[in-house]
Amino acid sequence: MPSCAAQRPILDWYDSSARDLPWRRPEVGAWAVLVSEVMLQQTPVARVLPVYRAWMRRWPAPAALAAESPGQAIRGWGRLGYPRRALRLHEAAVAIEQRHDGRVPSSVDDLRRLPGVGEYTAAAVAAFAFGQRTVVLDTNVRRVLSRLLVGVEHPPARLSRAERLLAGSVLPESPSISARWNVAVMELGAVICTASAPRCDRCPVSSLCAWRLAGYPAANEERRHSQTYAGTDRECRGRILSALRESDLPVPIAVVDATWDDAVQLERALASLVSDGLVVRASCGTFALP
Ligand code: ADE
Repeated sequence: MPSCAAQRPILDWYDSSARDLPWRRPEVGAWAVLVSEVMLQQTPVARVLPVYRAWMRRWPAPAALAAESPGQAIRGWGRLGYPRRALRLHEAAVAIEQRHDGRVPSSVDDLRRLPGVGEYTAAAVAAFAFGQRTVVLDTNVRRVLSRLLVGVEHPPARLSRAERLLAGSVLPESPSISARWNVAVMELGAVICTASAPRCDRCPVSSLCAWRLAGYPAANEERRHSQTYAGTDRECRGRILSALRESDLPVPIAVVDATWDDAVQLERALASLVSDGLVVRASCGTFALP
């Protein structure tokens, strides 16, 4: 079975080649792991590193963040993007303080009950912070397993029960080795088995890879291309948040207006920020972070 044969080479490759990232150090606690996992969703490691370091210096424990206003969390998020994650992380810190005595819970069920924590994040924190045997399936892991075990270049858009079972079937039995396996496969997907330019010549399991052995069949479905950022509502929202982050006082609507040319799009972006709770209407037509 390629699944079993792949374990040792991937674990050995990780031991010798993994990037030294701060949230992977043995001494980090569960809060650091949770913060890193939330930041790393949809965001490359290089962009996360400086924000993560500043965040952990300022808020080394959930209680420190919970004592701040949500607006401070949005400010601390800088330009990481998808800033609702900052709000949810602040809410999670408050919930950890109120419901768990300030300590990040270790059970997947309790983790899932925290704001902003879904299936992936709960499994990742349980594995990487608490050494539990969980199936951790992010896009990198899913792509590696799809190629290695199924012979298909890209996993389906939606995660299925069959895919979870397949991932579970190749998970090492020992909890501590399974946690290492999860991060090793993730790393392989991030640096070797990448989406568009896999480096099979440097892959420790290229000789076992079902996709390679089948002659690299091309994906038959239309691949989703990542949405360009320029000109989108996301960019417009980012501009508005930037203007608010830079000011300690509520910002007049005229200043908000000056951040974007298209008035209709600006109106829509501002309304969505207010409805997401990322921006609040202050007095006399001004806007502020919450
Ligand atoms: N190490 C642990 N979790 C990670 C992640 N989500 N991305 C990159 N490296 C990680």
